[in-house]
Amino acid sequence: MSSRVAVPKRKFGWTGVGVPIIGQGTWQINQGSHKDKMQAIKALQLGLDLGLAHIDTAEMYGNGQAEEIVAEAIAGRRDEVFLVSKVLPSNASYEGTLKACKRSLKRLKTDWLDLYLLHWPSSYPIRETMRAMEKLVDDGLIRFFGVSNFDVADLQEAEQALSKHRIVCNQVLYSLDQRGIERQLLPYCTEQQIAIVGYSPFGHGNFPSSNSQQGKVLADIGKRHGNRTPRQVALNYLVRHPNVFSIPKASNPQHTRENAESAIGWSLSEQDIAVIDRTFPIGDDISLQMI
Ligand SMILES: NC(=O)c1ccc[n+]([C@@H]2O[C@H](COP(=O)([O-])OP(=O)(O)OC[C@H]3O[C@@H](n4cnc5c(N)ncnc54)[C@H](OP(=O)(O)O)[C@@H]3O)[C@@H](O)[C@H]2O)c1
Repeated sequence: MSSRVAVPKRKFGWTGVGVPIIGQGTWQINQGSHKDKMQAIKALQLGLDLGLAHIDTAEMYGNGQAEEIVAEAIAGRRDEVFLVSKVLPSNASYEGTLKACKRSLKRLKTDWLDLYLLHWPSSYPIRETMRAMEKLVDDGLIRFFGVSNFDVADLQEAEQALSKHRIVCNQVLYSLDQRGIERQLLPYCTEQQIAIVGYSPFGHGNFPSSNSQQGKVLADIGKRHGNRTPRQVALNYLVRHPNVFSIPKASNPQHTRENAESAIGWSLSEQDIAVIDRTFPIGDDISLQMI
């Protein structure tokens, strides 16, 4: 096993459960050759070694193939993982949600999920999906449930549809270029003790290049903190709020290591944060990216 570095944890919403502030995404890990997939499995396992124990997947990713790859990566290590999957909105009727969860559990070769999310707002009544989520908790198939790509109004509707359990998480787009959640959604979720998990922290591969003005700002800040990379600066910035977690996807083990070390033993100064705030100005409230 690789040398352990401590990726910090923080309490996940109202649960009191400590979850690493940086996790691992899995969208598109099923793509490429067999060798690429084996490398993606190695990257996930290295991530676990380094404490990136929050693994995010979905029935949608590769039509279930990403979940099967995750199953290989976590075999024999299930207890180390905070495992998250998502139901597709097109499956999110009451019965459909129960069935989708059982299919995900089978592909993931586990008896339970730590967190199950509705991937984005569905045309099925939210009360049906929430009723199914409550049943899955009662049956011990999931520990917690939440939503993804929900704005404040969607969230309030979902909260009102519940009868005995609470939403713990809203997973939303959050990157340097997409800071809209900071306006209303982040304050609302923080008040309600709903964890924000930010996805696509590197813009789904569209990260400022090293010769752009924005890239140079990040590089300068990184240099002043012991040669941190621009992406490490970005991740450190994105998890600066105590209610935010981030789930970069890396299939290259070097990237995984770099991401794990982004939030260990250092933090940005107030001045650095002000510079990044100005370089990446806040945009609209929430940008729904339905993937
Ligand atoms: N709920 C939703 O609707 C939703 C939507 C989008 C994403 N997500 C979740 O969020 C996760 C992350 O978002 P994402 O996959 O869209 O994109 P991302 O994490 O913003 O970017 C992934 C890309 O960045 C590269 N990368 C990662 N670490 C790097 C590093 N240290 N240096 C250089 N390049 C690096 C990866 O390359 P390699 O793979 O080659 O290492 C990959 O090409 C997804 O995988 C998924 O689990 C959820």
